[in-house]
Amino acid sequence: MSILTSNKYGPWIIGLAIFFGVAVAVVVLALIAATVTFRRAEVASIYNNKKVEIVGIEPKSEIWGQNYPREYETWKKTANMDFKSKHMGNTQEDPLAQRPEMVILWAGYAFSRDYKAPRGHYYTIEDMRKTLRVGAPGIDETKDLQPATCWSCKSPDVPRMIEQMGAEEFYKSPWSSQGSQIVNAIGCADCHNPVNMDLTITRPALREAYQRMGRDVDQASTQELRSLVCAQCHVEYYFKGDGKYLTFPWDQGFTMENMEAYYDDIQYADWTHALSKTPMLKAQHPDYELFLLGPHGEKGLSCADCHMPYISEGGIKYSDHQLMSPLKNTASTCQVCHRDADADLINFVYERQDKILETRNRLEPELAKAHIWTKMAMEAGATDEELAPVRALIRQAQWRWDFGVASHGASFHAPLETERILSHGLDKALQAQLLLQDVFRAHESNPAELPDITTAEKAQAYIGLDMAKLQDQKARFMASVVPNWLAEAQAAGRI
Ligand code: HEC
Ligand code: HEC
Ligand code: HEC
Ligand code: HEC
Repeated sequence: MSILTSNKYGPWIIGLAIFFGVAVAVVVLALIAATVTFRRAEVASIYNNKKVEIVGIEPKSEIWGQNYPREYETWKKTANMDFKSKHMGNTQEDPLAQRPEMVILWAGYAFSRDYKAPRGHYYTIEDMRKTLRVGAPGIDETKDLQPATCWSCKSPDVPRMIEQMGAEEFYKSPWSSQGSQIVNAIGCADCHNPVNMDLTITRPALREAYQRMGRDVDQASTQELRSLVCAQCHVEYYFKGDGKYLTFPWDQGFTMENMEAYYDDIQYADWTHALSKTPMLKAQHPDYELFLLGPHGEKGLSCADCHMPYISEGGIKYSDHQLMSPLKNTASTCQVCHRDADADLINFVYERQDKILETRNRLEPELAKAHIWTKMAMEAGATDEELAPVRALIRQAQWRWDFGVASHGASFHAPLETERILSHGLDKALQAQLLLQDVFRAHESNPAELPDITTAEKAQAYIGLDMAKLQDQKARFMASVVPNWLAEAQAAGRI
């Protein structure tokens, strides 16, 4: 007979068991309570026991780092250049060398001189100072033709200066006039309110675009803000009017066609193409807009879900601030939601990218050919009137190409939409060529053989760029200004 069911000792033993059971439970609960209190205290110490009180726009991230060392340490890692996926990574690639047709596509525009694939946020200031797209006007080395608007996506010093000068005055000041002010790479003050660490929108362009759509960005949910802080920069934009006022063309909507209609309605062109004389549009990097149209955007995910995964450390959960490719560590990114194996997840991404690059690789040479043939048709006597429908197609084709390609993450973020956009680009480039054949026929002529544009240097020579001269002018210009910028910034305690 079991001791528990014995009538004589049963109640006594059960009582004892309950007593010990409760005692154990109390101890366990006390332990749990202690750890919870400990964790809470630690979390609270992060937010409440601030070591420094930050007021206003503090562009130096190292000061914030005293209060939030975990986020700061991971943020610093955006300086790393140690990862390469199949098509991306945090190293600095030179796409013009890899795909020299792009030099032709951007003939007459600064991107034909210099274009690098993005790397970490840590490098924004350095890369801005280095690029041949600013401070190298090709006329004389003391004059820079770019407005300060170019700094907009590079630094928390930008909202600081906008607060000081007003947006209008800031944008229209010359790029180099802000060189001693804009000195800190993208940091805490770009995305956070220092008082409560809430996410915050610091860029007027996003705020104003929302207002024009009848929406209020201050009413956005945290989940929306986890994307909108990125949408301050990773979007399509243009410099409006003589004041070069930074503007997002979202008034008619977020699609490629919506924004094209916006630009067509105001007859906007970023530049006139040097070869084909087409009024062109330059797409920037509509990552946010395209993301909204992909499977993850449609399910309400935000950029931070993949690019800022949580890290758990000693019971503290915090966001990884090393913004980079999520493929570096799929365990903390994709696998939070998907049960697929690491290799399968990575292959999902590569498969989508590879297929889209097939279309891109067909489109780039066809579009380059359309520009070159247009130039040849002009030489054969074709008039602007004859070429108007050709140029309309080239403008549309290149807008589609750029929209799909310049949005760096799009082939994974929104594969179907990106493929759709690029295939329309290919179709329009080929339609332009068909029309051009009619134009040549009307002038009893034929397009000559295409020039050799198999390297960036050859393509740059073909469009008449003297790269050695440009590089020299840029180097001399920067050598004459940067030491003063740094000395001034240091004296003012900005760096
Ligand atoms: C590009 C925008 C961006 C920058 C720059 C940025 N953060 Fe964040 N930060 C975020 C986002 C997004 C979250 C997640 C917020 C949420 O989910 O509520 C976050 C969360 C946080 C949190 C809350 C706890 C956590 O880790 O989730 C702290 C504290 C924080 N950041 C500190 C910093 C510090 C310090 C810096 C500068 C070294 C910084 N952040 C730079 C976007 C940014
Ligand atoms: C103030 C403007 C700005 C904000 C805000 C911003 N970015 Fe960036 N981002 C940039 C610029 C500029 C670069 C390219 C830097 C370079 O190459 O020098 C970049 C680069 C990147 C890269 C490429 C990094 C690499 O390793 O190649 C990723 C990924 C990225 N950003 C994601 C995000 C996400 C996600 C957010 C929001 C949480 C965000 N960014 C917010 C301007 C911004
Ligand atoms: C579901 C996960 C996911 C979400 C959400 C997401 N991305 Fe990405 N993103 C990726 C992947 C995967 C890549 C490709 C990385 C690679 O090929 O190494 C990528 C690439 C990028 C790149 C190019 C990085 C480089 O090295 O050039 C940028 C910039 C970027 N994303 C920004 C964003 C922004 C901005 C958002 C929000 C609007 C966002 N991403 C939302 C997964 C995501
Ligand atoms: C926060 C959760 C979350 C994260 C992180 C996430 N996903 Fe997803 N993913 C989803 C959801 C939700 C869907 C839509 C599922 C559905 O519709 O059935 C989805 C869909 C997909 C699909 C199918 C897309 C299609 O064409 O229908 C693929 C592929 C995918 N994810 C890959 C990835 C990869 C790769 C990563 C990491 C870079 C990733 N996901 C990160 C939640 C996530």
